[in-house]
Amino acid sequence: MSFNKPAALAMALAAGALLAPAAAEAQGRLNLYCSVQEDWCQLMQTEFEKATGVKVAMTRKSSGETYAQVKAEKDNPRGDVWWGGTGDPHLQAAEENLTMPYESPRQKELQDWAVAQWKTGKQRTIGVYSGALGFGYNSELLAKKNLPEPKCWADLIKPAYKGEVQVANPHSSGTSYTMVATLVQLLGENAAFDYLKKLNVNVNQYTKSGAAPIVAAGRGETLIGIVFMHDAITQAVRNFPIKTVAPCEGTGYEIGSMSIIAGARNLESAKKFYDWALSPEAQALGARAESFQLPSNKSTPTPPQAPKFADIKLINYDFQKFGSSEERKRLLSKFDSEIKVSN
Ligand code: G6P
Repeated sequence: MSFNKPAALAMALAAGALLAPAAAEAQGRLNLYCSVQEDWCQLMQTEFEKATGVKVAMTRKSSGETYAQVKAEKDNPRGDVWWGGTGDPHLQAAEENLTMPYESPRQKELQDWAVAQWKTGKQRTIGVYSGALGFGYNSELLAKKNLPEPKCWADLIKPAYKGEVQVANPHSSGTSYTMVATLVQLLGENAAFDYLKKLNVNVNQYTKSGAAPIVAAGRGETLIGIVFMHDAITQAVRNFPIKTVAPCEGTGYEIGSMSIIAGARNLESAKKFYDWALSPEAQALGARAESFQLPSNKSTPTPPQAPKFADIKLINYDFQKFGSSEERKRLLSKFDSEIKVSN
């Protein structure tokens, strides 16, 4: 007896439909918390699924928000891996044992700064990229308003830029916490908080996510956005009239990090993702998503658009101190009591 074609096809489809969930189950699942830009998060999700067959549920939130979520879920962890976002809250999570130690076979392929993060973080977090803090401005708007080009941190608090600056809130955003910690290290704590009070007068909005201010600047909704320099470059590459500035006094930087969440329910998938995310192939996805950080795997080409670290005056950012639970909590509560954020 022979099947007619449509019936055979229907049976094959039905068999496939029955097999598909079982196959996905066999290859695993992963709950990924992602703290970079949405485009890059989505690309990491789909490419990891393609490479391994593991089914990924991805949630994108800013670094401080993700830290708070992982902490809130401590007794009932829902995430498996937290990938990306500034290193300080990853270090805080490590200190509080919210994440777990892991040593990847790929560790030897990484830059020293990425491994230094792993050592500082009790082997519970590792560097996946690095980027320098700065700001960007809309050059068309600047010309229209007939304002001078801002070049230094000191420029951003001048009365000429009243209401013209946007930056994220340091509670939700790792970018903004990096700014607070950078100013404390550059100027000393008292001068840094005086600076933040003056800056507050010029700030038109504290956003939730770190890169949002430069997206707004690209659209002409604010003149200046304080962001990582690579985030300003992304807007320029997308043809918005954005100029990127490395502040003249010097600046801080991030070691964007990755951690496996303590009590991860999908531990095998989490380790698989961790190893894959350190590979040159996975790290090259950043540039494909127009994210121009320095990758941590020595064999991943640095995107030509990435800001040149050699041209930026970098401070010797103290990750041990500013990523510690005590210091991050203290600075954030001081920010709340001394800076009267009106929005
Ligand atoms: C952007 C940057 C990343 C950074 C992240 C922090 O995505 O490209 O380099 O780690 O912001 O985000 P957050 O919203 O926490 O400031």
